[in-house]
Amino acid sequence: MRYRSKVVERIKIPDRDEREAKLTAAGYNVFDLEAVDVYIDLLTDSGTGAMSAEQWAALFRGNEAYAGSDSFGRLRAAVEEVMGFDRIVPTHQGRGAENVLYGVLLEAGDVVLNNTHFDTTRAHIANQGADPVDVPVESAHEPDSDEPFKGNFSVERAREVVDDVGADAVPAVVLTITNNSAAGQPVSIANTRAVRAFADKIDATFVIDACRFAENAYFVQQRESGYRNESVADIAREQLGLADALVMSGKKDGLVNTGGFVAVRDADLFERVKQRAILFEGFPTYGGMAGRDLDAMAVGLREAVEGSYIADRIDQVQELADRLDAVGIPVYRPTGGHAVYVDAEAAVPHIPAERFPGQAFVCALYREGAVRAVELGSFAFPGTDRPELVRLAIPRRTYHREHLDHVAETGRAVMERRENIPGYKVVSEPDNAALRHFSADLRPIE
Ligand code: F0G
Repeated sequence: MRYRSKVVERIKIPDRDEREAKLTAAGYNVFDLEAVDVYIDLLTDSGTGAMSAEQWAALFRGNEAYAGSDSFGRLRAAVEEVMGFDRIVPTHQGRGAENVLYGVLLEAGDVVLNNTHFDTTRAHIANQGADPVDVPVESAHEPDSDEPFKGNFSVERAREVVDDVGADAVPAVVLTITNNSAAGQPVSIANTRAVRAFADKIDATFVIDACRFAENAYFVQQRESGYRNESVADIAREQLGLADALVMSGKKDGLVNTGGFVAVRDADLFERVKQRAILFEGFPTYGGMAGRDLDAMAVGLREAVEGSYIADRIDQVQELADRLDAVGIPVYRPTGGHAVYVDAEAAVPHIPAERFPGQAFVCALYREGAVRAVELGSFAFPGTDRPELVRLAIPRRTYHREHLDHVAETGRAVMERRENIPGYKVVSEPDNAALRHFSADLRPIE
């Protein structure tokens, strides 16, 4: 453990009757639980981490000027140093960056290729009237394949799409590192180079969704030949250096609770990005963020690529996977960067897909131990043939081994009673099916 606590937050575990009552009141949808009723919150790693003492100190340097804030200058210097881009526009979070960049890059009828679009990316591209097409490698959805870079982009499949729609229809190619929608799997530098070459060939802008760039760089160091003696910081710069533009959610590897940015190389594109940012985010030197938050992110980006931080981070995710595995829970291998993914079809095989085995597993984790995870299967993505995954995402620098002990014990209790875990049906849902897991209500089928 490379941290000690300076500020603490009290957490409590509701008793079994309370948990049952809270779950019923939430319509068996953990997005409707109050956070105080959750003991260990693994809903997301986004914006939920702990800031360092240096980041808290940096908040006080924040300059809240509307234009020309020196906090912006410090963030720009950090992005240049860590990520190699000096043209940036801050946004309120990652999806703000997506709105700004895709709003200027895309037109109706365009096609965008991505190893796998994260939900908000998909939605913003669709919102421009364009078509988001996923081109993951085959192994992305094979939980037992131990290939090291299952997050990779399939250039072969991308070529097939281009043969079909024509290169002119594809103005942007996106690489999401790590590949969140494919179990947080990493992308190799070799693959990044291949995507760069492919983008050049079809004359497309090469965008990296860099949310978890530091985690990805760590996997490259550990798994890709020739990188073992390179620092995570150098690897990150090399990989991001291949892109024309970045969209970033600072809530992940920016180590902050909110914020993000767009970064571009081209001067003309930068002007267009700034104009759209003024409309949707704010004046380009603060965009969607407070000056103090720009300063906290400047520090966070540098901390994210420190070797000791990132090794600790990935080891902790690995440790949770091993602990869950030890109590018989089928986990996706190799473990990804920010979360452990459980194969719910294998965990609760008596529940058919139409009765949401993933959501059943999520409810069981809350019922047994007030642990909150999230379903990423047919409840969250209706009408797709995604595997029935449950994600346990680990907030950065927040939980310790004792918390993981509790999660593993909860997992054991779930597995001991798994035959009694009911399936679920949806009893009310919003009009927009793509967003149903945020607000639908369910009921157990006894
Ligand atoms: N891209 C990826 C790959 C993401 O994982 C996320 C957010 C975003 C973009 C959007 O960023 O939330 O700052 O607007 N992922 C979170 C998650 C919400 O739980 O995986 P944002």
